[in-house]
Amino acid sequence: MPSRTSALSDFSAVILAAGKGTRLRSDLAKVLHRAGGRTLVEHVVRACMPLRAREIAVIVGHQAEDVAACAIPLGANPILQQPQFGTGHALRVAQKKLNRRSKYVLVLPGDAPLIRTETLERLAHAHLTSGAAATILTAILADPAGYGRIIRKSDNSVARIVEEKAATPEERAIQEINSSIYAFTLETLWPCLDALRPENVHKELYLTDAVAVLNQRGLRVLAEVAADSQEVLGCNTRAELAEVDRIFRDRKRRALMDSGVTIFLPETVLIDPDVRVGEDTVIEPSVHLFGKTRIGANCTIRAGSVLTDVLLEDGVTVREHSILTASRVRSGARIGPFSHLRDGAEIGPGARVGNYVEVKKSRLGQGVKAQHLTYIGDASIGRGTNIGAGTITCNYDGVSKNRTAIGNQVFIGSNTALVAPVRIGARAYVAAGSTITENVPADGLGIARGRQSNKPGWAAARRKAMAAAAAPPKRAKKRPHRRRTPRRRPRKTRGRIRKG
Ligand code: UD1
Ligand code: MG
Repeated sequence: MPSRTSALSDFSAVILAAGKGTRLRSDLAKVLHRAGGRTLVEHVVRACMPLRAREIAVIVGHQAEDVAACAIPLGANPILQQPQFGTGHALRVAQKKLNRRSKYVLVLPGDAPLIRTETLERLAHAHLTSGAAATILTAILADPAGYGRIIRKSDNSVARIVEEKAATPEERAIQEINSSIYAFTLETLWPCLDALRPENVHKELYLTDAVAVLNQRGLRVLAEVAADSQEVLGCNTRAELAEVDRIFRDRKRRALMDSGVTIFLPETVLIDPDVRVGEDTVIEPSVHLFGKTRIGANCTIRAGSVLTDVLLEDGVTVREHSILTASRVRSGARIGPFSHLRDGAEIGPGARVGNYVEVKKSRLGQGVKAQHLTYIGDASIGRGTNIGAGTITCNYDGVSKNRTAIGNQVFIGSNTALVAPVRIGARAYVAAGSTITENVPADGLGIARGRQSNKPGWAAARRKAMAAAAAPPKRAKKRPHRRRTPRRRPRKTRGRIRKG
């Protein structure tokens, strides 16, 4: 096996990243889509970096500036291909710009991000050892649909590559596919590019056709079969992108578990590539660790918590469903459940931040307790201070943000509003329910609320009055129903003689 450290100084690497990626149905260029916490192109550049090739060139076209912005910080050189007439055309463009001193080129597609440095190294060394004009990294796939197929000769060398759309049913049945990763000897590759013709459904110049051209010129093309076929998977569709992301996440979790981290229900845990976690830390289900998060040893990250760019020292517990962003938590502190730390929150050693507490751009000293229903923004809180439930630092006056400074060993009563800018001196008390607009001196009491007065019997009297008001009005006794009969007219008796 080749040494990992031998520099491939006769090689340049060319990453093809100019295409749009029509099958993704996206406004974003394909190589700018993300899987495993990075853009596709960044993964590929990073896989090339340890090879110490003479140059890493990235062919850019669609959204060229954005793709270049991913590649340049990693030390790669963008080369513009405008317009894009296919993978063969991309190499023609590279020919004019590539470092003249390289003798070989490793070509990689920008949309196959799972490739490992070791595999590239093995391919390069196989190419150097055999003296072939080209060596193709191939893979045997159970489902080769969508990939170019490898047509071998009787001597096992490669005759040509046939793209899926041009393949006969027999050729489609071949399971050995072209990964689009090749090692070429430049002396023989460059003349072949002139012989490429756009005779295919897309009317493009295919780099794959260079294999047949090399054969026609009596040159040998060999294939190296990838030991792990997952490494060559492309991201041409959203489904492939999701599958590649899944594989990256699995790789990262396995690496951490191998280094002594416990992860329960690992398939539910997402961890970005740059995240570091110390030994004996336990990560529960559905935890997401993103960005440059660093977690010390013996920490516990409980279910459903999301940490982005966070620094946790040793022995920190983050309880369920806490969201921590761009913050630092010192050793032994306990956060959560349902806490929100953001934008430069700094939580001191052994401090406690509890449920429904949000901390922003604030520093909590050693052993501070803010356990319930609190907003702390733009504040500094001294060691040992207790922040009562429902405390709010009113840091925004509608125009600018103002600071609250609370000293050591202070007791802030529940439901306090601290209207910034304001200072609470060391060891002071603030009475519960206060709206504090003026500084409170050290060792003093700040109280700012309406004075209580009690009215004995008031509640009972009120209850009685209410009950009386709610009772139905007393009605007069109901009379028995009378049949309505028309009033009889008084008989006219006058002038009439009564009978019998
Ligand atoms: C290509 C191969 C196919 C192989 C597959 C492996 C060709 C013709 N086919 O197909 O044999 O099985 O990769 O993943 O090469 N690009 C440019 N400039 C262009 C066109 C493309 O830089 O003008 C870049 C794309 O951005 C992409 C890469 O080249 O990163 C490959 O192009 P894509 O369109 O994905 O090729 P496939 O169809 O996947
Ligand atoms: Mg592709």
